[in-house]
Amino acid sequence: MTTERKKLNEVDSGVVKNLQKVVNFMEEKKYYPVKRYLEIQRSAILDMEGFWSKEARDIPWFKEWDKVLEWEPPFAKWFVGAKLNACYTCVDIHMISWRKNKVAIYWEGEDGSTKSYSYAQLYREVNKFASIMKNLGVREGDIVVLYLPMIPELPISMLATARIGATHTVVFSGFSSQALADRINDTGAKYLVTADFGMRRGKHYPLKTIVDEALKQTPTVQKVIFIKRSEEEIELMDGRDFTYQELMEKAEKYVEPVAVESTHPLYILYTSGTTGKPKGIIHSTGGYLVYNYVTYKWVFDISDESIYWCTADVGWVTGHSSIVYAPLLHGATILVYEGAPDYPQPDRWWELIERYGVTIFYTSPTAIRMFMRYGEEWIKKHDLSSLKILGSVGEPINPEVWEWYYQVIGGERCPIVDTWWQTETGGIMISPAPGLELVPLKPGSATLPLPGIDAEVVDDTGKPVPPGKKGYLVIRKPWPSMLMGIYKDPERYREVYWSKFEGLYYTGDYAIKDEEGYFWILGRADEVLKVAGHRMGTAEIESVVVEVPFVAEAAVIGIPDPIKGENIVIFAILKEGYREDGKLKDEIVKALRKQIGPIATPKSIHFVEKLPKTRSGKIMRRVLKAIVKGETIGDISTLEDEASVEEIKTIFHEFKEIFGKDDSNKSEN
Ligand code: PRX
Repeated sequence: MTTERKKLNEVDSGVVKNLQKVVNFMEEKKYYPVKRYLEIQRSAILDMEGFWSKEARDIPWFKEWDKVLEWEPPFAKWFVGAKLNACYTCVDIHMISWRKNKVAIYWEGEDGSTKSYSYAQLYREVNKFASIMKNLGVREGDIVVLYLPMIPELPISMLATARIGATHTVVFSGFSSQALADRINDTGAKYLVTADFGMRRGKHYPLKTIVDEALKQTPTVQKVIFIKRSEEEIELMDGRDFTYQELMEKAEKYVEPVAVESTHPLYILYTSGTTGKPKGIIHSTGGYLVYNYVTYKWVFDISDESIYWCTADVGWVTGHSSIVYAPLLHGATILVYEGAPDYPQPDRWWELIERYGVTIFYTSPTAIRMFMRYGEEWIKKHDLSSLKILGSVGEPINPEVWEWYYQVIGGERCPIVDTWWQTETGGIMISPAPGLELVPLKPGSATLPLPGIDAEVVDDTGKPVPPGKKGYLVIRKPWPSMLMGIYKDPERYREVYWSKFEGLYYTGDYAIKDEEGYFWILGRADEVLKVAGHRMGTAEIESVVVEVPFVAEAAVIGIPDPIKGENIVIFAILKEGYREDGKLKDEIVKALRKQIGPIATPKSIHFVEKLPKTRSGKIMRRVLKAIVKGETIGDISTLEDEASVEEIKTIFHEFKEIFGKDDSNKSEN
């Protein structure tokens, strides 16, 4: 054989060997995953009702449905005629299996205090809490507002509320008294459950004071339960206020779970939109639970062995689905942590993962970016080999952050599930699904819609855009955990989600679908900000700013931030006779913290004479954004007065000083 021939053979045999390896690998891993995955998706969408009714049988019902779906666009009713109870499906069901003595909740506080509850203990607590709520007068259909820090009593009170057929509204405990009062007043709730304090960064924050302030403005509230965590006396109002501990002493051990309709509202959760006050998103019981049961099996491959840790606060939808309902439906063990991620030092989380043997870890890109800054040495100190799956949620994850998460936290072993969803969707919609079929991952892409989810990217007219082109993310068919509406405002529901495109659910997000059908979520297409994953409307912030007595007008924009994803920048026009004296900005910050909470603290405030507006008076936030980012402004033919742009350009040095030249401050939107 000539040398050339030999070389060719060598190459050939190398290629053949490699091919064989790939074939074996595919065989072993069942590796035509995208194709198979798309096939499952397609069949689910083609026979949607058959598909969901089959999946729905995995959770316990008291009565089966007469109809899988009643679709009167844009209102969907899933599993019509069926009856169930959310608390029964998450807790009671485990009493009749070996899981009874398994740990349901591990809780740890920032100060190192710990608690744990087996499913049997959880069952006892939930029953007792349900009994005290019943004794206080809570009935089926009532709304109970829960304003609680991340303590076990939060999931317990959610489950207890559901047990007696009431509806819960959890208000994030970082919200201010005004934000709490607004939510209570919108629901008209008669009952509130809260605590004396929460824990963060070595300090106790006084929930009691905030609640007292809020209650001055909430005439509907008749009964308040305080969970007392400290020995300190708290002042209680006779006949209205009760302490949890005292009531629990007299509680009954068992309360019959109320069989509610599948469409009965399990909860109302407030979220920000483009206009006005936050809206109350209503979620059903049956459809919501079915969807979350199924998708956690697919996305997180959740099982009896899972020690599941979602770092979100229960005050957000992620906490509702990912901390409470989905893992407990599966009888998994959850870790609940109260405190800051990096307190007292930046390895707090990694130490917890090691000590509890966490197998599934679900967090936000903001948190990952923060830990990247702290450096790998904090992570290397701990054995994270228990981890099997890593999740990301709440905002787009940049590819370099994805890679770091994959390598440093996941040890190149754990698939990352980049899960796209919303308060409104109730459950994960677009995500890799290692529990079903792991498709090849692409850092920065949430990959493919889950089976049964008919997602598309469309242009302004609602027509699908070609692969690789940016458009609006829409969903074409109803899904079981879809919001049932906006509380007390069906018209707003129709208007916000179903009027931009005829017959399509509008998500408010920009996305790109690539050649292989993978979705890349680019961020919000509307006036909604995502600051450290927290959702806030520019209009919501502006309305607080213009209420400050010396402010005439205000415009709020979101500016890319290397850690938080986005940050708040405010432009304001002062009323006649006022001049910045170094205190006015503080007043605005104070107002925002008081009306919304610390999450609304802006990165910077700039006083200007004019704001760029269209001739019809609409503020051109796009122009403000471009100037702050030092980018070209684009078309300003509709601008009313060019002097406004010139003025803001003259204060460009202020932005440069604040935002520096950090490249990560550049983004698509
Ligand atoms: O813009 C999208 C972003 O978060 C929005 C929904 O926010 P919220 O209702 O607070 O729920 C967050 C947690 C479920 C979406 O419209 N978002 C959520 N997940 C992702 C995301 N953006 C990109 N990638 C994600 N994985």
